[in-house]
Amino acid sequence: MCGIVAYIGTREAYPVILKGLKRLEYRGYDSSGVALLNGGLKVYKKKGKVAELEESLQGVDLHANIGIGHTRWATHGEPSDRNAHPHTSASGKLAMIHNGIIENYAQLKQELIKKGYVFHSDTDTEVLLNFIEDIQKNNNCPLEEAVRIALKRIVGAYVIVLIDNENPETLIAARKGSPLVIGIGKNEHFLASDASPIIEYTKEVVYVNDYEIAIIKPDELILKNLGNERQTPFITKLDMELAAIEKGGYDHFMLKEIFEQPQTIFDCLRGRLDADAGTITMSGIEKYADEIIAANRIVMVACGTSWHAGLVAEYIFEELCRINVEVEYASEFRYRNPVINKGDVIIAISQSGETADTLVAIENAKQKGAIILGVVNVVGSSIARASHAGAYTHAGPEIGVASTKAFTAQLAVLTMIALKIGYKKGTLNHDRYLQLLKELDAIPDKVASILQSTEAIQAIAEKYKDAPSSLFLGRGYNFPVALEGALKLKEISYIHAEGYPAAEMKHGPIALVDESLPVVFIATRDSFHEKVISNMQEIKARKGKIIAVINEGDEQSLS
Ligand code: M6R
Repeated sequence: MCGIVAYIGTREAYPVILKGLKRLEYRGYDSSGVALLNGGLKVYKKKGKVAELEESLQGVDLHANIGIGHTRWATHGEPSDRNAHPHTSASGKLAMIHNGIIENYAQLKQELIKKGYVFHSDTDTEVLLNFIEDIQKNNNCPLEEAVRIALKRIVGAYVIVLIDNENPETLIAARKGSPLVIGIGKNEHFLASDASPIIEYTKEVVYVNDYEIAIIKPDELILKNLGNERQTPFITKLDMELAAIEKGGYDHFMLKEIFEQPQTIFDCLRGRLDADAGTITMSGIEKYADEIIAANRIVMVACGTSWHAGLVAEYIFEELCRINVEVEYASEFRYRNPVINKGDVIIAISQSGETADTLVAIENAKQKGAIILGVVNVVGSSIARASHAGAYTHAGPEIGVASTKAFTAQLAVLTMIALKIGYKKGTLNHDRYLQLLKELDAIPDKVASILQSTEAIQAIAEKYKDAPSSLFLGRGYNFPVALEGALKLKEISYIHAEGYPAAEMKHGPIALVDESLPVVFIATRDSFHEKVISNMQEIKARKGKIIAVINEGDEQSLS
């Protein structure tokens, strides 16, 4: 994943691009760069964070009204100055930024090398750029036409934005599989991977569709498909505020997002769950309720944290709806040629709505006749648009790379869907339904009260911060939660962690337990509680250090 920003209009392009790149650093931060056009093409790029690029450009004349910028997360070629974007073409007249992966780049590179092209980076991007330039040279055609011809041969995912030294009044952009938003201002346009770099300038945006090429001038936006037919840009009004994407006094976005959870879960339930009336309103789900009830199975497709949300949902759906549920890693599902029958219901879970594996997995399943429901956070994202229907999680922008508030919002949405379907199907009786609605309604306040215990949490973190490894254990619903806990620890602290079903410990992993190993139990009071307490005893017997997440007043777990 990389972040792209571009500007064309009457303002200074560099400050707009720089600020945008900082907002998009969550998408990648191993190198960054900008290309500006002002009486010639100037390209500046640097390994490291955007701040290092900024520092290196102190005192440089960066005046320009058109420019492109990129913050990278390496896929082809190590993080370095030379692999950083923008890349320039062999003639030096074009510069391009790219987010995505060109899968057939090696073959194209060989063709270009035979024609005498020399490459200055290890990237697939430089190959695509020279491929475009070669087509333009051979056909003596406008750049947009060369891009169109080139993209017909490209296998993979991309958003590209090009500037042309010989045509300084135009940006050319195109997308397939990676996100591109264009903000529309007065005599200016802003391009970015998501709306966060755009929102302070304009709320009118166009989400570019797959296989579309955009020809962008300060006062004109033309969209065409790869068949060269004009497309009507669909202008959407952004409904987020700038404050929602800034740190709001916290040291880190992740911390801010953890503390936002009472509000985000509330936002997610708001307007849908009415515990007093005993109703859940979700129009996207209502439309497909009969198909879901009749489905032989539901397949949850997702990656990472979203996959963990799918695993929790498996327990919930099977219990409340009595429908067979499978949970699939999208990256496996898409390549495995899975058996999909007409009428299978796929629930795609994604915070960003742009995870390529999840997107391709649902597109494949759709072609085979499955019904696709999206549980997505980012409105208008690719997965949301590729789904037949679904429900947004409404968690607001998640800037922290480690998913937190998106996970709990996913659980809230998936629980509401299961409650709705279970009740309609009759597998969930009226009293239990009402009781669960009330419990769900109470969650935001409960989360708020847990977030008041930060001192105790900090003290535990301080005590165990140097442990080389740790285990996270749970049973039932809490098993996937344990997996998610282990993922968060690995991702944020670089401490090795593993999640396990607590009962599996005795089948091998218990050999790892000694007095140096912190073992986190998710041991809330549920039907497994007694059993989990026995599992704690097994760990204690081997002198493991237990950290237990328990209900208030649960003396039994403390004994
Ligand atoms: O945007 P998505 O939910 O589709 O992203 C999938 C994973 O990359 C993501 O959940 C990742 O595992 C988390 N950010 C880790 O905290």
